[in-house]
Formats: sequence, structure tokens, C-alpha cells
Amino acid sequence: MNNIVSKLNAAGQQELAARLESLSGEARELLERDVLSQDWEELKALYAEKSAATLADNVSADLKPMPFKIAADDLRYDFWKETGEILLQKGQVAAFLVAGGQGSRLGFDGPKGMFDIGLPSHKSLFQLQAERLQNLAAQVGHPIPWCIMTSPLNHEATVNFFTEHKFFGMDRDNIRFFEQGTICALDPNGKAVVDENNRLALVPDGNGGCFRALAQSGTLAWLVEKGVQYVFLYSVDNALCRICDPAFIGALASEGRSMSASKVVHKAGPNEKVGIFALQNGKPGVVEYSDLPENYRDMTNADGSLTFDGGNIAIHLFKLAGLRKLQTSRLPWHTARKTVCGIEKCFKFEQFLFDAFPLLGSMLPFGVVREEEFSPVKNADGNDSPKTARNMIGRLHKEWLKKAHVEVKEDKLYEISPTISYAGEGLSRRLFVREFGRGILEFEEN
Ligand code: UD1
Repeated sequence: MNNIVSKLNAAGQQELAARLESLSGEARELLERDVLSQDWEELKALYAEKSAATLADNVSADLKPMPFKIAADDLRYDFWKETGEILLQKGQVAAFLVAGGQGSRLGFDGPKGMFDIGLPSHKSLFQLQAERLQNLAAQVGHPIPWCIMTSPLNHEATVNFFTEHKFFGMDRDNIRFFEQGTICALDPNGKAVVDENNRLALVPDGNGGCFRALAQSGTLAWLVEKGVQYVFLYSVDNALCRICDPAFIGALASEGRSMSASKVVHKAGPNEKVGIFALQNGKPGVVEYSDLPENYRDMTNADGSLTFDGGNIAIHLFKLAGLRKLQTSRLPWHTARKTVCGIEKCFKFEQFLFDAFPLLGSMLPFGVVREEEFSPVKNADGNDSPKTARNMIGRLHKEWLKKAHVEVKEDKLYEISPTISYAGEGLSRRLFVREFGRGILEFEEN
């Protein structure tokens, strides 16, 4: 106990030490547990660094755009797809969902994956993902392990949801849920924030905490045991995510040199809230939209196109060797100033998973078409909302049907169950007739 108090005092947390000493019984035990979960020297150093930093400090002066090409236009695309399918069939690929975020912009009180975007089937984001995974696993003839990272704020609700839905038909032993770490919010003077129940204000440590959590939870070892070599890492909120896309996997496997790959889209415009792929001091990585100074954001080429045009859609692929390296690497911390426990402008620290790229060296950018692969559900209304996501799914699935020579109604949209088609394959007029009203549903654009 004295040890904890002296550690806190040494880290400039005298008020917290005094609060701890004033408590007794269970209240003291709980606060002590919170305190022990934190690295106070690191927090002290972080506060010193971040309270003096400006936005420009987050971006190096030597920033260059990272060139990328749309992968489907490449002559090697079919070869990549076949290579990826072979790797999936050998059991060398796993899916890794980071779902520890709070989804506060959407205003949905619960894990974002439980959200129903209003498709005619009313499937949740989790269900759409589970069905895509199962369809792909069935096609390649091998189950695909699924790692799901939650946070202490949503772990129980997430696991309960999966349990209630019987894991969407998947084998329970092939899914691993684990929690990410937390970090204490600091008030504007660098003091730990304590809530009204005498508990520390611990917040999830950002999606960059995924590498630590993967290792510490034993999930990395679980993947090693299964013989996994490639981990497909993605965010919860993209309704069009092609989970474990074989072509993407095959492209990284064939390239040899890089430890990781990322899907990239052309940015919709300068103000789109996506990170951009760039080379900083010659190293590949992502600059988050909130860190990108306006002059870079708005910079254009001679033809008027955006200079920093490569948008991050939060779909990445890591070789297992890369993940092994990252379990002990130190990612930088980013800061947001937020109201916490009624105190304005507190420091909330988080790590971003894409900061792993500069640590791993060379990476492979894999360009994809937005209409086919990126429809994030971020806001309740307007852009990147449930409405835009269901309309994008509806339009894409209608295109799939047209390509399969199915006569569709021009004024309608269609939802095709991922249990029938993973990415537009296997559709036909006969199948349409058989599945209409069941696996294929019609709806109105709205
Ligand atoms: C993220 C990307 C951004 C990209 C955009 C595309 C990061 C830091 N930013 O932005 O570059 O253009 O997606 O949609 O990745 N999460 C956790 N734990 C946390 C915080 C977040 O698991 O502590 C998860 C979320 O549940 C979500 C994902 O990380 O699945 C992305 O987090 P979010 O906060 O939604 O990032 P965006 O601002 O959307």
C-alpha cells in the first residue's frame, strides 16, 4: 500500500494518493485495483509531452502522398484471388475485429456491431459480418477463426448478443472475445480524474491497444497454434466490408517484402473524415483526419485532384510475424480534449492501430472502389449514416443481379443475404426466383 502511495506521489498524483488513503474496505480495494492497472510514470511523461504539444507536432514536415492503384484493374488480380483462396483453405487466415469503441457519434447506446442499419432483413452489423465469414469459409472448405476485441465498456453486452444469437451459427470455439486495455483520463492540470464512486475514469486505450491486447489475452498464441499466418484486421462499422477478401490476402502473400497491407479509396473530398495514407520522413503510414493540417488537407495537383487522396477505410492485413513484433513495440499516443466526469478539457489518450505501419517498414497499399467496399456507419443522419449504408448495399446488390442477367426493377433496391453471395458470385435468374422474398429482398431507396 505504501508502495502505491509513494509511486503516486512520485508521479505528481498526491490528490489521488490522499483519496486512496482516505478510503477503507471495498471502496479502497476497488480504487487500488484501478490504480495498479495504470503506468503512472508513463502518464506523467505523457501529460508533460501532450500539454505542450500543438496540432502541427503530430505531422512531420516531410509529408508525401502514398501512391496507390485500384487492385481490380491489375492483370494479377485473379491470381491474387486464387492465392488468397488457397491460403484460406489451408487455414492460414484469421479475421480480427476491433470493436472496443464507444460509437458516440452514432448515438446508439450499445456495441456498434449490434446496430441494425434498417435493411429489410434487419440484420445487425455483427450478423452481416458473421454471415460473410461463414459463406467464405464454406467456399474454401475451412473455418476462419474470428478474434473480436471489445473494451470493458461493451464486453459483456457484446458477448451476450452473440450468445443470444447462437453465435450466428458459427462454431463457438472458433471465436475469441477479449478486452482491450484502458488508460486514465487526466484533468487539465494533469491530475487523474476520479468519478463520484471513487473509481478512476478509465477509458479504452484506442484501437492501437489491439496489438498489446491480442498478445496479453493469449489470442496471438491461439492463432499461432492454429497455424494462422495472415490476420485481416477491420473496424466494426463498415457495412460493405469484404471480410478476409481473398484477393487482398493473395496480393500481400505474393508481394513478399511487406509485413502489412491496407485497403485504400480515393477520398470523397477534402473534408471527408478519413485518415490519409502518406509517407512521413519516407516511412509509410496514415495521418488521421483530426491531425492533418488544413494546407495538406486542401492541397491539389495541377489537374485539380486532391494531392493527399488515399483514404483509410480501416481494413488492414498483417503477417503474423508483424503482429509478433508489434506486441512489444511502443505506439505513439494521441490526445483528445474532452469533458470527463463533468470536468472540461480533460486529456484522453489513445493509440491508433495504423501507427504500426511505420514501425513495420514497407507496406502494400491496395486500392478498392468505394461503392463496392466502403460504407461506414458513423452518424445518425446525413453522410456515413444507416441510410447511406443501406442504400449503398441496395445499389451494389442490384448491380450484382444485373451482372447475373437478372431482370430487376429500376425503381427498387435489393438486399442479398451474405449466406447466398459473398461478393456477387453465384447469382442467377433461377436463384433469384427461388430466393426472392427470403434470401433476396426488395426495398425502396429512401
Ligand atoms: C477510423 C480510422 C480512420 C479511418 C476511418 C474509416 C483510426 C484511429 N481511425 O476513424 O483513419 O479513415 O476509421 O472509417 O483507426 N476502437 C476500438 N477501441 C478504441 C477505439 C476504437 O476497438 O479504443 C475501434 C472501433 O470500435 C471501430 C474502430 O476502432 O471499430 C475505428 O474507431 P473509430 O473511433 O470509429 O474511428 P474513426 O474516427 O471512425
